[in-house]
Amino acid sequence: MSSSNDRVVIFDTTLRDGEQCPGASMTFEEKLEVAELLDEMGVDIIEAGFPIASNGDFESVAEVARRAKNAVVAGLARAIPADIARAGEAVKHAQRPRIHTFVSTSPIHLEHQMRKTQEQVLEIITATVTQARNLVDNVEWSAMDATRTPIEYLVRCVDTAIKAGATTINLPDTVGYATPAEYEAMFRAVRERVPGADKVIFSAHCHDDLGLAVANSLAALAGGARQIECTINGLGERAGNAALEEVVMAIKTRGDVLPYKTGIESTMLVRASKIISAVTSFPVQYNKAIVGRNAFAHESGIHQDGMLKNNTTYEIMTPESVGVSKTSLVMGKHSGRAAFRDKLKALGYELGENALNDAFTRFKDLADRKKVVYDEDIEALVDQEIAVAHDRIKLVSLSVIAGTRGPQRATMKLEVDGHVVTEESEGNGPVDATFNCIKAIVPHPAKLALYQVHAVTEGTDAQAEVSVRLEEDGKAVTARGSDPDTLVASAQAYITALNKLLVKRQSMNAQSQPAAE
Ligand code: KIV
Ligand code: ZN
Repeated sequence: MSSSNDRVVIFDTTLRDGEQCPGASMTFEEKLEVAELLDEMGVDIIEAGFPIASNGDFESVAEVARRAKNAVVAGLARAIPADIARAGEAVKHAQRPRIHTFVSTSPIHLEHQMRKTQEQVLEIITATVTQARNLVDNVEWSAMDATRTPIEYLVRCVDTAIKAGATTINLPDTVGYATPAEYEAMFRAVRERVPGADKVIFSAHCHDDLGLAVANSLAALAGGARQIECTINGLGERAGNAALEEVVMAIKTRGDVLPYKTGIESTMLVRASKIISAVTSFPVQYNKAIVGRNAFAHESGIHQDGMLKNNTTYEIMTPESVGVSKTSLVMGKHSGRAAFRDKLKALGYELGENALNDAFTRFKDLADRKKVVYDEDIEALVDQEIAVAHDRIKLVSLSVIAGTRGPQRATMKLEVDGHVVTEESEGNGPVDATFNCIKAIVPHPAKLALYQVHAVTEGTDAQAEVSVRLEEDGKAVTARGSDPDTLVASAQAYITALNKLLVKRQSMNAQSQPAAE
């Protein structure tokens, strides 16, 4: 039997802290797709973005707010009147709007970043939380760098925020410095010492710099927190945030020592992970807990023997409980459209008729070149289909002359805004020649910051998956491409990254608001 005291509120910040991660930017459509999934999955609060950061951010928060069916929609705001007004404007159409405002409280931040005294910060808290409460009833206040703030001062800050009307108090481990025992003790101390603490919900927000984000978030529950801020795949600033899927499955699997409940439909976790990985082009580490492709794979003979006898010997949760389907229908060139559609459904994709037709054509091409098409091949193919749907630059054809006698030479046809352009370039190796063609057709100042190749499946006919990161003016975008031909995959990854950069440039040009820090 669960009581309201057992219920842990899941606050997802994939679209805000997650998107802040270098190279993980998402387009407007991608953000809406992610928000829809989070809402359907049972996330209680979706932090949809930082409305003052750009017009693009404002528009996506406003659209998520209009569309969310169940979740509270939050917009982030610094402790600045213009930020709070903009966040209020962005979330106002939500059925359940929230403004999340924050200010630093630690001596390090006050001295070196804010250049403010403790008394000045207390005044800022009163003014900003009051302003936010005049716009919406649901206001979260965060003490940035709470874990490096002396407890006496933190208590005064929290007391001030509650008196000004905050309904949720978040005490973030902004720099990922705390240990679980310290983090639990901080919540306990603040809750014991602040008079109105029992009237608000306390929240944990942990970064993973020391790999402790999930452990710290769970420790916060023991200290009385009842909201956890987390992201799909642990995406986020630097080493990332606490991973939503790990928090949820730890609570679900270890109810004996973690006597809490969340409202998350856990069978949607793998699908959420795949969608986030596809739209951000951030690969999920193979051995990642809960959603990595090896999370339920048993390789050693002893483990396989145990699993055949009884799966509880080596599995503490079932693959089905996180949305991994057991049946693996092998696909090949004789598979028809219905089987392909079923397979996509089992893998968690629902494509519209046109996208399905395009994906099916590409699947047939792949099946002609490859004996067996594995689930991972299909995922890579569909992810690419989703990625290219709105692209301005498209690869039409590529041929490359490579070998021991250089220079290597590439001939490429690209469609740019509907016009087909052909180019021939030399390079120091076939990849260099390929990328030089793209640079000649679409000149751009971006620098190639990462180029990585991996095989999606096994065998010499495996699809190559290539990741490319481009950086321009301190902004980074990452993209993936996949194809049995490594050079085609490389060209696709580069072109997709360039398309993302164009979208980013466009939204920055449209920006008329002062930039957020
Ligand atoms: O890490 C942090 O402190 C934050 C705040 C804005 C809540 O992301
Ligand atoms: Zn954060």
